[in-house]
Amino acid sequence: MGFPIRTAFTLLAAVAAVTITTPRLRADAGPKIKKLPFGKLADGTPIQLYVLTNKNGVQAAITNFGARLVSLKVPDKNGKLADVILGYSSVEGYEKDTAYFGAIAGRYANRIAKGRFTLDGVTYKLPINNGVNSLHGGTKGFDKLVWQARELTKSANPAVELTLTSPNGDQGYPGTLHVRVIYTLTDQNALRIQYWATTDKPTVINLTNHAYFNLDGQGNGDILDTVLMINADEYTPTDKTQIPTGEIVSVKGTPFDFLKPTPIGARINENNPQLKIAGGYDHNWVVNRDHKTGLVLAARAYSPKTGRVLTVYTTEPGIQFYSGNFLDGTLVGKGGKAYKYRYGFTLETQHYPDSPNHPNFPSTVLKPGQVYRQTTVFKFSAR
Ligand code: BGC
Repeated sequence: MGFPIRTAFTLLAAVAAVTITTPRLRADAGPKIKKLPFGKLADGTPIQLYVLTNKNGVQAAITNFGARLVSLKVPDKNGKLADVILGYSSVEGYEKDTAYFGAIAGRYANRIAKGRFTLDGVTYKLPINNGVNSLHGGTKGFDKLVWQARELTKSANPAVELTLTSPNGDQGYPGTLHVRVIYTLTDQNALRIQYWATTDKPTVINLTNHAYFNLDGQGNGDILDTVLMINADEYTPTDKTQIPTGEIVSVKGTPFDFLKPTPIGARINENNPQLKIAGGYDHNWVVNRDHKTGLVLAARAYSPKTGRVLTVYTTEPGIQFYSGNFLDGTLVGKGGKAYKYRYGFTLETQHYPDSPNHPNFPSTVLKPGQVYRQTTVFKFSAR
């Protein structure tokens, strides 16, 4: 009686062993990096695209123009890949871009009030490019610069390194800044972005990635049904020009409470003064931390339609959730898709906006001898 059962177990074990080892037997399996031409800037500079592929066939494409994430192809609940990043099919689109699609925003992501801050008694003036404020590093921020790119062939996972030297006085900011960013695509379908920077004079710094996501595929409708969780008990409300007032306010009882996963569209049109100012969500949440340093869970987005899940981990104290309120269909991207109202959302891990003018916010000052570091992970799954 026991014999057939044991045989069945042996068979099951054999099947399991085959299932486990099969992926290693595929001839073309394994991580890859491909470098492709990505068009030319108006001045003739050729730009490249680096396509990282992991063992699951997940692909991330990054260009050296603005160190931008151009596309990210991830599976849905049926294993079907779709590109979940808004963007353009060549660099010409990015050179004209006004939405910061996929860019590394710097030197200072988000706004600095009236384009001014004072450091060690000296007041610095920055370009005003957003109403009365300075946004995302100025008129020619890191999103519009050509970075040096290098494929990291010795890395266990496909990875590309981008570096930049921003000279003293660039866009009004003090100090020569050396910046390094590495994008790595892991076999767990996570895109890890690591940042480092050093300076030769005291300065301020706040770097982020400005990717717009649509978990149903870029250009495939709005993001209002996407269910969002933000791991934050508090957020930083703003004045009419979207500059933090300096207060750190509880999300409890407000449309800013995303502790319990909630569709983005559920409360977005409520008559809430903060939602009115921004025309929807465009705010900084204070990420809950159970440990002082290292990666923590910041947010999770889920599309009930395709089952794709994006989980965001970060070392940063804040996250800007922006619901694509300024998209209006005039920007036409990859595959001729028009990016209409709320067709994408961003989850920008960062220090709080306008920190240089708010001593009560975590400091964004970088001094000579210090190393600025930040890590953010965008992990994909499906259910
Ligand atoms: C800002 C938005 C802005 C968007 C694109 C976001 O980080 O908070 O107000 O419209 O970037 O520039």
